[in-house]
Amino acid sequence: MDHPELSEALYALEAHHADSRDVTIADLFARDPRRFADFHVVLDDLLFDFSKHRIDRTTFKLLIDLARAVKFEARRAALFAGAIVNETEGRPALHMALRNMSGTPIVANGIDVMPEVLAERRKMLAFAESVRSGALKGASGESFAHIVNIGIGGSDLGPAMAARALSPFVASHFDLHFVANVDGADLADTLKRIDLQRTLFIVSSKTFTTLETMTNAQAARQAVIDALGEAAVANHFCAVSTAAKEVAAFGIRDDRRFLFWDWVGGRYSLWSSIGLSLAIGIGAQNFEDFLHGGEDIDKHFATAPLAANIPVLMALIEIWYRDFWDYAAQAVIPYDQRLARFPAYLQQLEMESNGKSVSLAGKMLETPTGPVIFGEPGTNAQHAFFQLFHQGTEIVPVDFLIAATPIASDPKQHHLLVANCLAQSEALMKGRTQAEVEAKLKAQGLADDAIAVLAPHKVFPGNRPSSTFLYQSLTPRMLGRLVALYEHKVFVQSVIWNIDPFDQWGVELGKELALRLAPLVADPQASTVALDGSTAGLLAHLRGLRGT
Ligand code: F6P
Repeated sequence: MDHPELSEALYALEAHHADSRDVTIADLFARDPRRFADFHVVLDDLLFDFSKHRIDRTTFKLLIDLARAVKFEARRAALFAGAIVNETEGRPALHMALRNMSGTPIVANGIDVMPEVLAERRKMLAFAESVRSGALKGASGESFAHIVNIGIGGSDLGPAMAARALSPFVASHFDLHFVANVDGADLADTLKRIDLQRTLFIVSSKTFTTLETMTNAQAARQAVIDALGEAAVANHFCAVSTAAKEVAAFGIRDDRRFLFWDWVGGRYSLWSSIGLSLAIGIGAQNFEDFLHGGEDIDKHFATAPLAANIPVLMALIEIWYRDFWDYAAQAVIPYDQRLARFPAYLQQLEMESNGKSVSLAGKMLETPTGPVIFGEPGTNAQHAFFQLFHQGTEIVPVDFLIAATPIASDPKQHHLLVANCLAQSEALMKGRTQAEVEAKLKAQGLADDAIAVLAPHKVFPGNRPSSTFLYQSLTPRMLGRLVALYEHKVFVQSVIWNIDPFDQWGVELGKELALRLAPLVADPQASTVALDGSTAGLLAHLRGLRGT
């Protein structure tokens, strides 16, 4: 936060923080019988509960003052108007255009982007349908049964996460595979599971230069040539990219090239043709429902009052904890097994966007920015790292996600899932006091000296915050809503922190150094004198292990 106009709002929040230190969430509920009623938002069949936080009405008022002090509403308007909000790359960020279902004009660089967006979407969905129906065939005349998306980061995590989330909607005659890692094991293990004659490869890369993707794409191309001959490449490959020329140079036919635009960030690209593998799996109608879900949230984000605007509330809550309470991590725990990859998806979305320490003005920030995001599905996570949530020295705010009604799974088991989800947020908030523990142990018949030894270990401090997202079912539309909520949350935070959430310069240095090191790794004779002591030492030992 380096906005000069912020000092008053920050001072008020700091003073309020000092006053709030000793107030517990349980106190807040006791003082305010309307707390749940007023601290949740319902958006159709999605409820966002933010009552279990160390936040009262004054906190929200002050946080909203903070958002206003940084002219958040003007920045939001600029985002939707196609202004250059990605300042360091000189681009707008218009992923909302990809899920604009009405086609209302959206202007970037003086041009309405919607005609091209709609045409590309139609082309991509028609292609997806021709793969689904079996009309499109491989070189030996067989229809496709395996779809392999080759991509990494935003060109992998989105479709991989969504394909798993929406698996009940994926046609049963398709297996969707995702190859990302430059570790050859990723492709090798996938090749073992597929029949090349029935496989369509999608090379997904915004830039079409990414080392991992291009290496895997070339290796897959060679595998197709070895098995089916060079002519088969045209039948078994298609590509999604902003780099039309590079795709053509790879040898991919015109009608199998799906384009998008540099105003779509990689981690915001699932809504574009990057979603092709998903669209083949779930079909055009379901894919459009997913887009509708994103559009629902765009409308909500653009119009709902700040105090009832879910992405704004999500952002302000996290800012409160990150910058005033110094909580360094945020967990996302979907009680929804099919959302298993959602935390990984959010790691890129949030940490690549807001993992910054320099402001838009190029100054070092004095306040912390994006927290560490992590998570696993519940109930599994309960048996792994929840111990730390309940009794550790770090406080980790949690987002719980749970469906009211399961899709294609046992409703009785779902009761247990819901009960566990609600129990965890309740336990985090309430905790268990020493007196309660002692009474419980006494009732179990333990002697006083045994109770004195054991009781401290069984105390739960409680007062640990969480939000809960409760939704009807994990449909394509609901998934679209969830993804867009987090996207806009990230944007709101970036405005308050005054950082560019759409660039990712922090990934560049490692890429450069890897390219410089690659020949030294491959050639045991190559000199390592220019390297630092540790890297040279590791390389020498590696050469020893390899016997080279
Ligand atoms: O290395 C980071 C990154 O640039 C991400 O932002 C992006 O999603 C990913 O690499 C893949 O990039 P591309 O789609 O251009 O291959």
